[in-house]
Amino acid sequence: MENLNWSELGFGYIKTDYNVRCYYRDGKWGELEVSSSEIINIHMAATCLHYGQESFEGLKAFRGKDGKIRVFRMDENAKRMQSSSRGIKMAELPVEMFEEAVRKVVKLNERFVPPYESGAALYIRPLMIGLGAQVGVKPAPEYMFMIFVTPVGPYFKGGFQPSKVCVLREYDRAAPNGTGTIKVGGNYAASLVAGEIAHSKGYAAVLYLDPKEKKYLDECGPANFFGIRGNSYITPQSHSILPSITNKSLQQLAEDMGLTVERRPVPFEEIATFDEAAECGTAAVIAPISQIDDLDENKSFVIAKDGKPGPVCEKLYHKLRAIQYGDEPDTYGWISIIE
Ligand code: PLP
Ligand code: COI
Repeated sequence: MENLNWSELGFGYIKTDYNVRCYYRDGKWGELEVSSSEIINIHMAATCLHYGQESFEGLKAFRGKDGKIRVFRMDENAKRMQSSSRGIKMAELPVEMFEEAVRKVVKLNERFVPPYESGAALYIRPLMIGLGAQVGVKPAPEYMFMIFVTPVGPYFKGGFQPSKVCVLREYDRAAPNGTGTIKVGGNYAASLVAGEIAHSKGYAAVLYLDPKEKKYLDECGPANFFGIRGNSYITPQSHSILPSITNKSLQQLAEDMGLTVERRPVPFEEIATFDEAAECGTAAVIAPISQIDDLDENKSFVIAKDGKPGPVCEKLYHKLRAIQYGDEPDTYGWISIIE
């Protein structure tokens, strides 16, 4: 891909060569199909269009110094997609089929995996939708699973440069016993109004509080939250946040570095005590937070006083990236090499 400026990539859609698709009909999944069309043809009465039967995933493939392509923890994405299916009554895709589809779509689009030096990656976007003509509110008779890929740079404009987030108590992305723990499109639709308010005021994201009591930290629009205080890595436990695979990995790496991991409800006021804070996720990687503005109470909490990423975020970021790009050994079996 000689005409792509790899190191300048943002987080957007770029057409690649192929996508893969698979249909669930008559109670079983069919064969994986390869397509070069960006278009899908579906019935206007499909449940995904009316009743939100849609889930998606996000993972990345990285090209190492050795030229090999590595995918990070795809079994975890496969399992989370199954949990999304259970949450909105869709068919569950077997983990092996998910992994086979990832391998295939990455291999077919090999020329779009950015070079090592660029620091960019190939974003892999699996999705599942309910199909079939239906008007009553009930699960679809058929499903379509597909994956497209697109080369990406950082999700947040600053990349690893700290940015500000805000709290807006009038908005929730998910209900207390709702769909926050699964990755369904409706959660993201619900986050658009608050997200746009935040962006228009110069914030990178909204930091949501728990929807029931508004007392505890939940997560950001597209990423989990963690704070560092002294020797502790502190991250919210909540019934309305997505179990982030990046966060889970960072908790392991933090422990390996000798930090104590605290996964528990985190009262909002605790942000005043953090030495560092960040968003974390596949797209965000680690996006340090410089300041948290409580727009309801008109209060500001400055976290990165010098405007730079803190030392623990810095260490975690480099460690995670080193594993993903194959610069350091994969001691946990997180990496699948695409051959
Ligand atoms: N939280 C939300 C709401 C997300 O959309 C994402 C992105 O997938 C994450 C957290 C991070 O999850 P992961 O690290 O598995 O990408
Ligand atoms: C991801 O990190 O993969 C996401 O899905 C976040 C976002 C682009 C919705």
